[in-house]
Amino acid sequence: MISAQRFTARAYGKVNLHLGVGEARSDGYHELATVFQSVDRPETVSLVVASDARRVSHGSVVERMSTDFRVNEPEMDIDTPTNLAWRAVDAVVEAYRGLPGTDHVALPTLSIEVLKTVFVAGGMAGGSADAAAALVAANHYLSYYAQHHFSEAVLMRIGATLGADVPFCVMGGTALGTGRGDNLAPMLTRGEFWWAFVSQQEGLSTGTVFEHLDDMRHNDPSLVPRMDTGRIARSLVGGDPIAVAGALHNDLQAAAVTLHPNLRRTMNEAMGLNPLRAIVSGSGPTLALLCENREHAQRVVDALTATVAYEGFVARGPAPGTHMVD
Ligand code: C5P
Repeated sequence: MISAQRFTARAYGKVNLHLGVGEARSDGYHELATVFQSVDRPETVSLVVASDARRVSHGSVVERMSTDFRVNEPEMDIDTPTNLAWRAVDAVVEAYRGLPGTDHVALPTLSIEVLKTVFVAGGMAGGSADAAAALVAANHYLSYYAQHHFSEAVLMRIGATLGADVPFCVMGGTALGTGRGDNLAPMLTRGEFWWAFVSQQEGLSTGTVFEHLDDMRHNDPSLVPRMDTGRIARSLVGGDPIAVAGALHNDLQAAAVTLHPNLRRTMNEAMGLNPLRAIVSGSGPTLALLCENREHAQRVVDALTATVAYEGFVARGPAPGTHMVD
């Protein structure tokens, strides 16, 4: 019996070491000056082609998807065609079908399997990492069945149509993001950073947090955009976690804390455990606690998950970009 063909890729979650949010734009996005760092908390996406798969020359090649949650499982079903991983596979296949001379190629149908370890809707780009892994896996599927391979630059462009964080998830490492956050330049960084990530149960919609910041800025002139990434850039070159801790900044934090009042309590509780710094990750509600080393980060996670019913894990940054796994 011929076994199924599997294409498996892994992408990682991220934390924003600096998140400066500028003006709202006419396309519904905000101008950003952000420093992303990927952390080694993986999302693993497999495209599985059965040996007796149907072949199709139009429409979606995806027949179904399933997600195995190693973190908070949302109430609503996310294994649908609107899932970013599903849309990523569709987008790669559509890009291929847009190339000249591909009309006659029928591609086999597949199912998507996601192993999720990054919080859902937590501000760590878990969904974007799924999309990034699906893009890279779909590219290998195309190489295998259609002898066509898109460059990483093209995959990142396709990724940008799916979500602003997707290109960074493809790239990984540490990068400056401007524009919507998808205009990327790698940054010099030294050493490694140990983080404790803790999350409350319900996630926050990214769009809601950005909108809330706009509202708060109308009434509070102190909430000015912080678009200067010089301090974090210098501290990353030095590689000293204490200096990096001092330079962490998130413009969205005030909005995330207002929308999620529990966050302040968790933050206070976390500060009692002496992390180098506590910051909201991206649009939240995950709290990112920069620690001295792995052991310190584990102690912080253990203490917080024991005293309050939050989920948590330790992760190290920077992590690599999206890659294939056997
Ligand atoms: O691109 P993505 O779908 O991840 O963005 C989700 C939402 O977050 C956007 O619809 C927008 O409301 C907000 N956003 C923003 N400015 C950015 C990135 C995201 O306003 N640069």
